[in-house]
Amino acid sequence: MPTAGARYPGEVERMTWAAVTGGSRGIGRAASLALAHAGHDVAFTYRSNASEARVVCDQISGLGRRVRPEQLDLADGLAVTRWAQSTAEQLSPQVLVACAAETFRGDLSAHTPDVVRRLLDVNVVATIEMARAFAPALAASGDGSLITVASMNGLRGSASSVAYSSTKAAVLGLTKALAVELAPAVRVNALVPGIVETAMNAEALADPATASAVARSIPLGRLGTPDEVGAVIAWLAGAGAAYLTGSVLTVDGGALAMFPVH
Ligand SMILES: NC(=O)c1ccc[n+]([C@@H]2O[C@H](COP(=O)([O-])OP(=O)(O)OC[C@H]3O[C@@H](n4cnc5c(N)ncnc54)[C@H](OP(=O)(O)O)[C@@H]3O)[C@@H](O)[C@H]2O)c1
Repeated sequence: MPTAGARYPGEVERMTWAAVTGGSRGIGRAASLALAHAGHDVAFTYRSNASEARVVCDQISGLGRRVRPEQLDLADGLAVTRWAQSTAEQLSPQVLVACAAETFRGDLSAHTPDVVRRLLDVNVVATIEMARAFAPALAASGDGSLITVASMNGLRGSASSVAYSSTKAAVLGLTKALAVELAPAVRVNALVPGIVETAMNAEALADPATASAVARSIPLGRLGTPDEVGAVIAWLAGAGAAYLTGSVLTVDGGALAMFPVH
């Protein structure tokens, strides 16, 4: 149910917690800040970058919201269960954004079982485990929203990304299955970012010629910014998206809509 009396999409009237993985940088940080702007207190995780996490804490506190950072490596299954259960029990969050992920670039010969298993653990197993732990609290909130972050790599193929693409396709599948299973109490939607200026693809786009070729492949003519994706995540979490569940929302500057240029 939409939050009664919200003044604009995404805005919440009562203080509710949102939990975000990977909130120290990139899209997760932008989502954490957008959710704080919309009125949520924010519990976010980071893997190792404590100084970036402190900056995000200061920014969220500066907005008058409570903030709870926690170091968490999604490859550590026990730690994921511990964080998810304690956060769900102690904060009763209304929103979960499963944003953090790892990528791997390498041709097929580099895709050893260890490489593939690690990406599955971080990008898929941890997401399902967090959904399992958070679902009762999200449902009890009366307006629960679970948002996964997938990728164009889950919809289209590209060389050197067999494991990453597999995990992102799995994220789309688990999103739809959870949308059905958790309805009507919890809405579950996937956000598909296009190519966004973050550390994740900084190396691949370091060459200016590559960066401008990529920009030409996007109808809007440029890469996205983390804030542009974070704003849509906050909107998905709010009353304005009350009739969306099981949706796959692309925020890609039109990249997936365009025929390849010959
Ligand atoms: N950027 C893009 O163009 C793009 C495109 C499509 C999809 N995506 C998806 O968008 C999401 C966010 O990507 P991003 O570009 O914002 O990434 P990013 O800037 O590299 O940030 C990654 C975040 O995830 C955390 N993290 C990384 N590995 C982790 C692990 N094993 N356990 C726990 N936390 C971990 C990092 O923590 P530390 O700061 O402590 O390292 C950081 O907060 C990911 O799901 C990604 O697949 C991104």
